[in-house]
This record gives sequence, C-alpha cells and structure tokens, in this order.
Amino acid sequence: MPLHIIIGAQWGDEGKGRITDLLAEGAAAAARYSGGDNAGHTVTVGGEIFKLHLLPSGLIQPGVVGVLGNGMVINPQRLLEEMDKLAAKGVDVSPGRVKISYAAHLISPTHIALDKANEARLGTGKIGTTGRGIGPAYTDKTARRGLRAEILRDPATAAEAARAHIAQANATLAQVYGEPPLDAEAIAAGYAGYAKRLAPYITDTALYLHLLLKAGKTVLAEGAQGSLLDIDHGTYPYVTSSSPTTGGAFTGLGVAPQFTGRVVGVTKAFQTRVGEGPFPTEAFGAEAERLRGTGANPWDEFGTTTGRPRRCGWIDLVLLRYSARINGLTELAITKLDVLSGLERVRLCMAYRKGGQTFEELPLGPAHLEGFEAVYEDMPGWPDDVRAARRPAHLPEAARHYLRRIEALTVLPISMASVGPERGQMVRF
Ligand code: IMP
Repeated sequence: MPLHIIIGAQWGDEGKGRITDLLAEGAAAAARYSGGDNAGHTVTVGGEIFKLHLLPSGLIQPGVVGVLGNGMVINPQRLLEEMDKLAAKGVDVSPGRVKISYAAHLISPTHIALDKANEARLGTGKIGTTGRGIGPAYTDKTARRGLRAEILRDPATAAEAARAHIAQANATLAQVYGEPPLDAEAIAAGYAGYAKRLAPYITDTALYLHLLLKAGKTVLAEGAQGSLLDIDHGTYPYVTSSSPTTGGAFTGLGVAPQFTGRVVGVTKAFQTRVGEGPFPTEAFGAEAERLRGTGANPWDEFGTTTGRPRRCGWIDLVLLRYSARINGLTELAITKLDVLSGLERVRLCMAYRKGGQTFEELPLGPAHLEGFEAVYEDMPGWPDDVRAARRPAHLPEAARHYLRRIEALTVLPISMASVGPERGQMVRF
C-alpha cells in the first residue's frame, strides 16, 4: 500500500482535514509535511469538533500515528497546548503515537514579533499573514540559522540554542524595525521546559515513514494551506513561505516519489481566500455573504486560525486545472456542495479575458492575475437540501450535472463530495 497525498487545490481552507480523516481509516500514519500553526483543520465526529493546527488530522482515527515532518515549522508552545486539548478529548498523543522530525524547524516568539513588525511596515501592501511567525521561521531555515527540533532532545542544549537565536533576532528587531528586545532568558527557560516534555517525540521520521512504506503500509501525506499559496507556484508574493504542493510532500517528509499512490486534490464547490492577493472569481455583496454564512456555524467561512471573514467567490477552473497540472492530481474531492443548495444559479469560471483575448491557461502563472476578468458558465442551481445524500443517485440532477461539468473541464474524476460537516456526510462516487 502506498503514499497517498492530500493536497489543497485552492487557497487553503478546502476542508482537507475531514478528507484526511476519512482516508486515514486503516492507514498506518498521517504526516504533515509543510507549514505550521497557520493551518486550521476541523474534523467533526458525532457532534464532537476537533480543531487541529499542527497535529495531523489523521490522528483522530484510532491507531493512526501522527507525524510532524521535517518540512514543518513548529511553535512548541502551541503544539503542547494542542496536545493537551486533544488528550482532554481522549485522543492518545503519547510518544509513539505522535512523532516529530528532528529536522523540523521551531518557531520562537521572535519569529512572531518579526512577522507582525514586517506586516506593519508593509502597511497597505501587507501580505495578510496569520501572524504566527511562519515567514520569519522559514527565512531562518533557508538562511541556515534556524532552530531545529533536535535541540529539544536536551533542555540545556535547547536553552543555549534559544538564547543565541534570540540575541540575533533581537538585533534585527531593533535595527530593522525599531522594536523592543524580547527577554532572552525567559524564552530560553521556556525552551528548556519544552525540551523536557517533547524530547521523547523527536525522532527520524523520514526513516520511520520509509520503513512503513517498504513494509507495504499506507501513509497519508497531509497538505496544509493550498497550492495557490505555494511559495513557488502560488500567487506570489501573496503566498505562504512553504511548499503545500505535491513536491513539498517528498522534501517535507523525506520519502521517495516512487511510493506515491493517489494524489487527492481537495477543492470546495466554490472558492475562498483569506488575506490579500488576486481572486478573479471573487463575489461581493449578498452573493458573497450567502457563500460565507453568518458565522453562526463552525463551518461558515471565517478563519479557523484567525477568525477573519474569508473572501468568497465561484469555483475557478483555470486555477483548478493549473493545480491539477502542478500537483499531478489523480482525483478531486469536493467539499461543501451543500452550501450551494438553494442558489438560483451556480457559476463556473471557464477562462479569463484580458485585452480582448481569451485565456484558458495562465500566460505567466497565478502571480499575474491582475486585470484578468473571469468568463463564466452559469448553470441552474438546485433548491433541494442535499445533506442526507450518500450516493450520487441521492443528489438532484442539477447538482450531478454541476459535478460532471467540473470533471469534464478538469479531466479528473471526482471521488467524493461532502454534503455537511459530519464524518458520514459524504457522497462517494
Ligand atoms: P502565513 O502563512 O501566515 O505567512 O500567511 C501567508 C498567506 O497565506 C496569508 O494570505 C494567509 O492568510 C494565508 N494562509 C496561511 N495559512 C493558511 C491556511 O491554512 N488557510 C488559508 N490561508 C492561509
């Protein structure tokens, strides 16, 4: 059994958590390969809501080992808080059930301070980050001065490394941003404490995953964020600082591409984005509000991590085809089909128009979307409540037609479509 990769095909928040949860049944391990606690994944089981930011969503399935891969940036304090919350709900988060790569990077309070200071300096040109220190942590990683999880194997080493790191970061905070220094001693003491708790979790996760795959076990590579937020392939500079695309799974876990089985692209039945940056199919006014929801439900379109209202619009097949191409998607999983119920018409963006020309492919990638106008195909909506549907035949013809159009235009099969937040609210094709 192989490595199945679960990819956000849009700008994140596609509902990857619940798809991972389903696919994790019977898997040996679920491994996060990129990002940090900028992610927010929700899994709903029997009315109980699990919110995960750093731990893999696959952990909610009994028997699945959760791996935090080397491609991640981990805030140890947040990780411990999340582990405690899950443990309180009866999830086993003991060493052995959760494994952290020794080569994952750590987020410190200075990374968070630098993230916020940088956004403030950019003003109206800001990226709209989650403020979790993600960019500065990856900056330190590529500048070869980062803090790696391996320092947490020993409290004294952790404190010493944190002290040196804070001294350097304080200089940047003062010289570049005119910000006050952070208390190096307090942070070093915090790191010594994290080491005491996290040391037994630190291991060679690449070797662990390799041995599982070689023994024929199933491993899920769990993407965070989305392809259009990829540092190379996204809407640069309005992106995150990691590689949420398929390639990132191999470098972010240290496993070989030969093991790959399915590459599942998760996409909403519509489209959302948080933060700044281009969004050609963005809807405004009543239409956007209808897609967003009021915020009364946990699944309404407000950020799991920051609570920000998400920008909402129509599914964009130009971008979805792009995602399918760069990720090598083998199938699509559609989420939130139920949200479209009751709309008089549903829209699909087939192409873009600019300067009298029509484009079915992006001429220069998604970073240059300004001035492109979406060309829509409008289809009749369906008044029916689809939340009880479990098989394609349970869906109204108009909804089935909508899904078939997406399949035809992406040349990908849809393997499942969710019709509600509960684990079982899924139509399987
Ligand atoms: P950062 O990852 O906090 O640096 O934020 C960079 C951009 O990625 C911002 O536009 C964020 O809103 C966006 N972003 C980061 N993580 C997520 C996510 O999990 N879902 C959706 N957007 C995200």
